[in-house]
Amino acid sequence: MISQMFEAVTGVVPADMRTALRTSPAGATVLQHLGERQTPGIRYVSDAGTLTRDDAWYTQIEDITGAEPHLLTKTREQLEPAAREGRVTLAIDTTERGRVVGCIVLWDLGRDHTGQMWYELGTFVVVPDHRYKARGPKAMPIGDALYRRLLHTHRDKNILATTTNIHAIHTGQRHGMQMVSFTDLPPGIHRATCICPMDKTGTNDNLHCRIKNRSCRVRIPFPTWARIGCPQRLPYP
Ligand SMILES: CC(C)(COP(=O)(O)OP(=O)(O)OC[C@H]1O[C@@H](n2cnc3c(N)ncnc32)[C@H](O)[C@@H]1OP(=O)(O)O)[C@@H](O)C(=O)NCCC(=O)NCCS
Repeated sequence: MISQMFEAVTGVVPADMRTALRTSPAGATVLQHLGERQTPGIRYVSDAGTLTRDDAWYTQIEDITGAEPHLLTKTREQLEPAAREGRVTLAIDTTERGRVVGCIVLWDLGRDHTGQMWYELGTFVVVPDHRYKARGPKAMPIGDALYRRLLHTHRDKNILATTTNIHAIHTGQRHGMQMVSFTDLPPGIHRATCICPMDKTGTNDNLHCRIKNRSCRVRIPFPTWARIGCPQRLPYP
C-alpha cells in the first residue's frame, strides 16, 4: 500500500528505487567493500600502470580463456589496449604467488547514432577451483566482486552484456542488470554485438538470429538502462 502510494506520488517504482540506490555511487561503494571482504586473500587489480608493467597475466588469461569452451581465447594483443584504458579487472590470489583466478573486461563496441560510445562486458571468468563454494562450504563470491567493481568503476559508460550462460545471467541479476530485448539497443550497437557464427544463429543475417532473446540474453546496467529511456524489461529466467 505504502509502495503504491509512493509510486503514485513520485512516478518511481519502489523496486527500481532500490536498484537505483544499490547501484548509486555510494551504494555500490559500500557493497563493493562488503563483497570484497568475503574473498580474503584475493586482490582485485585494474590499475593500468600495474597491469601493463607485469607481463605474466597475459599468458595466464590466454590459458584460462582457452580452456573455457564458451569463451573466446584472448591474447595479449587484444588485452593490452583494454588494460591501458583501465577496462580489465583481474582477481589475483595472493596466497598462490599472485596466480590469476578471475577476470572481467569491457570491450569496445563502437559508437551509436548519437555518437555515444558503447562497451561490451565480456571475458568474465573465474577459474573452476575458485568458483562459488568450490573450496568448501565457505563461499568465495569472486565473480560477484569482479562484476560489481567493473559496473561501479565504469558506471558512466554505456554497457551491455550478452550470454547464454545461466550463471552469468544470475550474476548480472544480483547486480541490477536489466534484461531487455536486443531490439531496444541502438541499431548499430545491436549489429555490432551480434557477430556469432551461422552455425549458432541459424541465419546469415544476425538480426534474425534464432536464439536471440531466447537462450541468448542481453542485459544492461541500471544506469545505462535509465540513460536509454528505461525500455521495457524482459523477465529473468
Ligand atoms: C560465470 C562464472 C564466472 C560465475 O562464477 P561464480 O560466480 O563463482 O559462480 P558459479 O558459476 O560457481 O555459480 C554456481 C552456483 O553457485 C551459486 N552462487 C554463485 N554465486 C552466488 C552468490 N553470490 N550468492 C548466492 N549463490 C551464488 C548459485 O547457485 C550458482 O548457480 P546459479 O547461477 O544458477 O544461481 C563462472 O561460472 C565461469 O567462469 N564460467 C565459465 C566462463 C563463462 O561461461 N563465463 C560467462 C561468459 S558470459
